[in-house]
Amino acid sequence: MDGRTFFRAFRGGGGGKNGMSELVRLTEVTKVYQGGITGALNGVSLIVEKGEFTAIMGPSGSGKSTLLNLVAGLDRPTSGSVAVGGTDLGKLGESGLARFRRDNIGFVFQFFYLLPNLTSLENVLIPAQLKGSDATARARELLGQLGIQDIADRFPARLSGGQQQRVAIARALINSPTLLLADEPTGALDTHTGDQVMELLGQLNRDGQTILLVTHDAKLATRHAARVISVMDGKIVDDARLESPERAASEVIRVRSEEASR
Ligand SMILES: Nc1ncnc2c1ncn2[C@@H]1O[C@H](COP(=O)(O)OP(=O)(O)O)[C@@H](O)[C@H]1O
Ligand SMILES: [Mg+2]
Repeated sequence: MDGRTFFRAFRGGGGGKNGMSELVRLTEVTKVYQGGITGALNGVSLIVEKGEFTAIMGPSGSGKSTLLNLVAGLDRPTSGSVAVGGTDLGKLGESGLARFRRDNIGFVFQFFYLLPNLTSLENVLIPAQLKGSDATARARELLGQLGIQDIADRFPARLSGGQQQRVAIARALINSPTLLLADEPTGALDTHTGDQVMELLGQLNRDGQTILLVTHDAKLATRHAARVISVMDGKIVDDARLESPERAASEVIRVRSEEASR
């Protein structure tokens, strides 16, 4: 039985939690940047189920951010297709893509990107205002859930890195996105703070949030995510589902992707 068959057997065997359904589908996606000699992505096919906490791991330059940006609809593939929630992003124009992002995607970045002249609460509210809804109560609730309700009226310059990233996470969640994307969210934090942020993401996932996270830290990925996809030179070289996070390596259900066996 090859890896793919095993993969199906495992998934088909009722192993999925709460009857999983597909949220993200990448089909033979390639991305060649202008002036790039080799592709940043080279034929990536991938399905992410609703409710999953997936980590994409790989060395610098392996294509992780490119992959995340394509799923977010921030960029378009050179060939292949990206679908989120059944919507083929290639069929959307620029305004359609912007609406798709606003309604479906929360994005957390390595360097937070909070607006310095707005308070924490005001930063969290930005995406809701773009949507035209008053979400102050929800914003305060989110700040509370993330353990930072007391810094609602502070400006970013007066926050620690960990607090800034929590504000950024609240901002990403304010519109209740179907998918939370995070690109090296702990990359600018010390180990302890990074661990706390990953714990928070884990809690959000246990509460039902689908998360697709990029990291180059294998320890963080395997400790917190239930599925770890390894990328190398723009290709998926490994795809492992852990029965539950924090299990021993021997319990990892390892799946070689089709790409790897080519
Ligand atoms: N906007 C861009 N223009 C040209 N090349 C890019 C651009 N973004 C990324 N690349 C190249 O694509 C490859 C993958 O980059 P990236 O997806 O950022 O990798 P990672 O996030 O894994 O570090 C790298 O070789 C990088 O130099
Ligand atoms: Mg990157």
